[in-house]
Amino acid sequence: MDMSMRHTLLGLFLLASLFSGNAQVKYLFETPTAILRPTRYQLPIGGSVTLSCSVEGSGNWTILWYSAASFGSKEEPMTEYEGKKAIIVSQRGLYSCRGRSDSGRHTYNSDKAIIKDTLPITAILTIQPNWTRIYMSEAFTVRCEIPGGEGTYWSYDWRPERFTTYYTTNERTFYNVGWEDNGNYQCRGNMGLSLTEWSNVIPVTISFKLQPVLTVSPSWLSPGASVTLSCEIEYPSEGWSFYWYKAIPDLDIKEEAYKYELLPDGSETAQTLYIITGQTHTAAYVCRAQRGRNYYYTYYSKPKFVWSADLYSAASLTVGPVEQRLSFDFVRLTCKGNSTWWRVRKFPENSVPYCSNVWNLGESVCTLYTKASYSDDGVYWCESMSKQFSNAVNITLQGM
Ligand SMILES: *[C@@H]1O[C@H](CO)[C@@H](O)[C@H](O)[C@H]1NC(C)=O
Ligand SMILES: *[C@@H]1O[C@H](CO)[C@@H](O)[C@H](O)[C@H]1NC(C)=O
Ligand SMILES: *[C@@H]1O[C@H](CO)[C@@H](O)[C@H](O)[C@H]1NC(C)=O
Ligand SMILES: *[C@@H]1O[C@H](CO)[C@@H](O)[C@H](O)[C@H]1NC(C)=O
Repeated sequence: MDMSMRHTLLGLFLLASLFSGNAQVKYLFETPTAILRPTRYQLPIGGSVTLSCSVEGSGNWTILWYSAASFGSKEEPMTEYEGKKAIIVSQRGLYSCRGRSDSGRHTYNSDKAIIKDTLPITAILTIQPNWTRIYMSEAFTVRCEIPGGEGTYWSYDWRPERFTTYYTTNERTFYNVGWEDNGNYQCRGNMGLSLTEWSNVIPVTISFKLQPVLTVSPSWLSPGASVTLSCEIEYPSEGWSFYWYKAIPDLDIKEEAYKYELLPDGSETAQTLYIITGQTHTAAYVCRAQRGRNYYYTYYSKPKFVWSADLYSAASLTVGPVEQRLSFDFVRLTCKGNSTWWRVRKFPENSVPYCSNVWNLGESVCTLYTKASYSDDGVYWCESMSKQFSNAVNITLQGM
């Protein structure tokens, strides 16, 4: 290594140590920035806030303060506060600060602190429709009113926080709502450096899709009597209309499935009751409810039955005599009529009838054991592939 190279290396070493992050050295070369806290604040009515200004690193800085009365207006020095590291302000405005050294150098200006005041106005939040519950995939609108604030160009802040984006309309509609729309809703007006008080809180809880409960009375058809269907739902008067259907056995789809056919004048009824006259055979009914601008429907209710004890030719259920075989007694239920394919149904549905189906001659036979459990007691009937219900029989096996 020759002498000149040695000198170059020494020079590089000295230069490197000078810039090696030693703050004292650094601020000899770089202009520091003043830091002002807090950067945003809402003054309560009659309240004040302490602003503090600091300059990073060492050095003897004199703090200078500035303020502007509104967005876009000129910044004026606040000479009365010169040299104070913290000041108390009770006026809305944009505030900033910087440092000045003995030698007359200046730091960079701080960011502007946005200090807003509070107007003696409370925003009013309303919700439409104002139903007790809102269900999954319904829609609702919240609306923010500023009393006495007509003719003024407000923007609106919203809660929950995720909606607090700058908004210039006072209405927000949420379509096809889901769990993420749950929350406590609130709003306030925001204009220049003034805010209103936050509005009342409207809690919104999105509920699961509803399933109404249908009741049919009486359960057994009596000749000439009418049958009353009643569709029950929570808060039935909150905008619901009701739809009424006849359930038709559909053996094509799957076990125990039905197709639904609207009853005459059975759509968009305002009543929770539907009266049927002239029904002579066993039948099943279903209801559901609908409301709202975007046609929100509930689930269909479970099918409910009105049973007829009268035999008729298209579909019949007959119960045979008690037969004996070695150690057990049993009865045969026979479905017969204008169909080759049947299924046997039972109410209550706490047990499934055991059926050894015989397809020939349009018959299907079920075997019920008479010493079986009490859960086999119940009302039995047949449903055919040709969409018919048989008469129904109330069987108490224990008594046989
Ligand atoms: C800082 O500056 C002020 C005013 O210029 C002076 O009175 C004070 O002695 C200085 N302090 C130091 C440590 O230099
Ligand atoms: C719901 O709205 C109706 C009419 O818009 C209004 O009369 C009623 O007071 C409101 N109820 C609530 C709890 O806001
Ligand atoms: C039996 O079914 C056939 C064909 O589906 C139909 O034409 C006939 O009217 C039915 N008879 C009765 C008694 O329902
Ligand atoms: C079936 O008959 C039993 C005994 O008489 C009675 O307790 C029960 O309520 C009846 N079931 C129906 C659905 O009518």
